[in-house]
Amino acid sequence: MRLAISALSLGLPLVAGLAFEGAVGFGSIATGGTEAYVVSSLADSGTGTLRDATSVSGRNITFSVSGYIVLESPLSISSHTTINGQTAPSPGIGVMGREVSASSQSNVIVRNLRIRQGTLDPDTGKSAFNMGDASNVILDHVSVEYGVWDSVDAVGAVNITVSNSIIALPIGQQFGAHLETGPVTWYRNLWVCGHNRQPLTKGPPTLQRIQAPFYINVYANGNFLDSNNNGVLDGTASNTVGSAIVLSAPWNSGSAALAGLTAQQAYASVIASAGASPRDSVDAYVVSLVESLGTKGQIITNQTSTGLPNNGYGTL
Ligand SMILES: *[C@@H]1O[C@H](CO)[C@@H](O)[C@H](O)[C@H]1NC(C)=O
Ligand SMILES: *[C@@H]1O[C@H](CO)[C@@H](O)[C@H](O)[C@H]1NC(C)=O
Ligand SMILES: *[C@@H]1O[C@H](CO)[C@@H](O)[C@H](O)[C@H]1NC(C)=O
Repeated sequence: MRLAISALSLGLPLVAGLAFEGAVGFGSIATGGTEAYVVSSLADSGTGTLRDATSVSGRNITFSVSGYIVLESPLSISSHTTINGQTAPSPGIGVMGREVSASSQSNVIVRNLRIRQGTLDPDTGKSAFNMGDASNVILDHVSVEYGVWDSVDAVGAVNITVSNSIIALPIGQQFGAHLETGPVTWYRNLWVCGHNRQPLTKGPPTLQRIQAPFYINVYANGNFLDSNNNGVLDGTASNTVGSAIVLSAPWNSGSAALAGLTAQQAYASVIASAGASPRDSVDAYVVSLVESLGTKGQIITNQTSTGLPNNGYGTL
C-alpha cells in the first residue's frame, strides 16, 4: 500500500513549493500565499475575518477561532492564497450559507475546511465550491455538503487536486462535481448521496466511478460495485466507467502510481480519514450512511431533513 508519492513519480517537476507535505496530483504544484494572516473572528466581514483575509492576494491564513462562519454573501478567494483550516482550535472551522469561490484565480491551497452551502443561500445557481477557470488549486481534507448547483464546480479548471475530501448530500441539482479541461486529480474522496456527477468529466479521466461520455478513455482496474443495499460489503468486480472506453493500461504514469489501494483498502481509508478533521456531526452522519452499506441514505432536497441540529447544518 503506497501512502505517499513523490512529485517526480507524478511526472510533475520536482519543485520546492509542493503545496504541503503529502500533497499529490496535478494541484500539488500550488504554492499558495506567504503573508501571515490570523483569522480571529467568526464575523462575516471586517478586521480579522476570513473574508478580509481572502480579499487580498498572497496571504497564508491561519485561525485562532473555531466554529462556523455564517456567510452573508459569496466568499471570494484571491490568487496565491493558503487557507490552513487545520490550524483552527478543535472542533475546527467551517463556512455555511453561501458559495466559496476561487473562480478564475490561480495558486490556491485549501486545507481542512468545512463548506456547507445549504438552503440559507438564496441563489440557487451557485455551487458550494466554485473553481471554474481556476488553475493550480488543491483542496485537501475538505468537507463539502449541501451544495446547491454543483458541490464542486471545476469547469475550465487546470492543474487541480481534490484529495482526502468528502463531497456529500448535495441538494438542489444534487450533483457532485463538474469538470472540463483538467488535468484534475481526484484522490481518496468520499462521494455520498449525489444524484449524478461524482464527478462528471469531459476532460482527463479519474480512477473513481464517474459519469463519462463515450469519447473519454479511462484506465479502471480493481474496482468493485456493491449495489444490492443489503448492509454487507459484498460488491463484485466492476470496471465500467459511464460510457467511456476502458483502457488496458494507465493513460498517465502518475495516476497509476497513486492507485495503491485495493477497493477494500480504499473503502477503509475513506471511512477512516476522508473530510475535515476532527469530524463534526455532519461528516459523522455522512460516514454513518456509507457504513450502513445501503440500508440508510437518500437524495435530499434540504439540509433540515437530515435531522441534525442548527437547521441541519450541525453545530461546530
Ligand atoms: C503557512 O502557515 C502554515 C501554518 O502556520 C505554516 O506551516 C507554513 O509554513 C506557512 N507557509 C508559508 C509559505 O509561510
Ligand atoms: C499546469 O502545470 C504544468 C506543470 O505540470 C505547467 O507547465 C502549466 O503551466 C500549468 N498550467 C497553468 C495554467 O498554470
Ligand atoms: C425538506 O425535505 C423534506 C424531506 O424531503 C421535505 O419533507 C420538506 O418539505 C423540505 N423542506 C423544505 C423547506 O423544503
